[in-house]
Amino acid sequence: MNYTLFNEDFLDGVDRIDDDSVDLVIADPPYGLGKDFGNESDMMHAQAFLKWTQAWIEAAVPKLKETGSLYIFTTWRFSPEIFSFIKTRMMMVNEIIWDRKVPSMGGTTRRFSSVHDTIGFFAKSKKYYFDLDAVRIPYDCETKKTRTRSIFVGKKWLEMGYNPKDVWRVARLHRLHKERENHPTQKPVKIIERMVKSSCPKNGIVLDPFAGSGTTIEACLKHKRQCLAFEINSDYCKLIRNRIETLNSQAELDF
Ligand SMILES: C[S@@+](CC[C@H](N)C(=O)[O-])C[C@H]1O[C@@H](n2cnc3c(N)ncnc32)[C@H](O)[C@@H]1O
Repeated sequence: MNYTLFNEDFLDGVDRIDDDSVDLVIADPPYGLGKDFGNESDMMHAQAFLKWTQAWIEAAVPKLKETGSLYIFTTWRFSPEIFSFIKTRMMMVNEIIWDRKVPSMGGTTRRFSSVHDTIGFFAKSKKYYFDLDAVRIPYDCETKKTRTRSIFVGKKWLEMGYNPKDVWRVARLHRLHKERENHPTQKPVKIIERMVKSSCPKNGIVLDPFAGSGTTIEACLKHKRQCLAFEINSDYCKLIRNRIETLNSQAELDF
């Protein structure tokens, strides 16, 4: 399976992608919170940030097939405005809460500690592709044993596992985590894998407008999907190419 990485501003390069050609968009853009990505992309004031967000969403949505869908990472600060905007173009399927499992550090005293990111899951139409069986979570032996009531006996889903809920509890990648690359907002691959496996058919095309450290590319290659990705920072592009080279050489060793 292959990937194409464009070292380019997504808005400058988006016309390289044909309309109605993409199965899934996974977008993890700057959140508008002032992170340093080696550029000014996360330094905009709220109104400029929302205007820019609308512009790239407007550019990305036509690239999706009728069966396509889009996941967008954001925060509670801007999710109301961003989700309202996307709802004028797409159907909202889920709001997913990513609980980063951050220990409470006690710094905040005027509100509750915020430990989650908000993920919007949207579909282009009711015909959107969704393979639940690819992402079911197996029941453990104990749970299976306790499900002895007749309504559970012989039920296929008891063997196949359950539907993941809309709160995803996955620890963020701390500095010493083995997955960790040199990128400030790298997402755990487990999260992206769930999106790829459930919302893009095998050999289908995933578009990532903001590749960062290349987590979407890694998830796509592992699960035999094609990936088209944009990243504006050339150092992150180098990091991605090294990451994927290591992944490929690891795969050869495993073989
Ligand atoms: C939140 S990070 C993505 C992290 C990624 N999901 C990962 O797991 O590593 C956002 C990335 O978008 C890049 N970026 C910002 N503006 C961009 C633009 N207009 N076009 C392409 N990339 C951009 C930033 O340099 C940054 O690396």
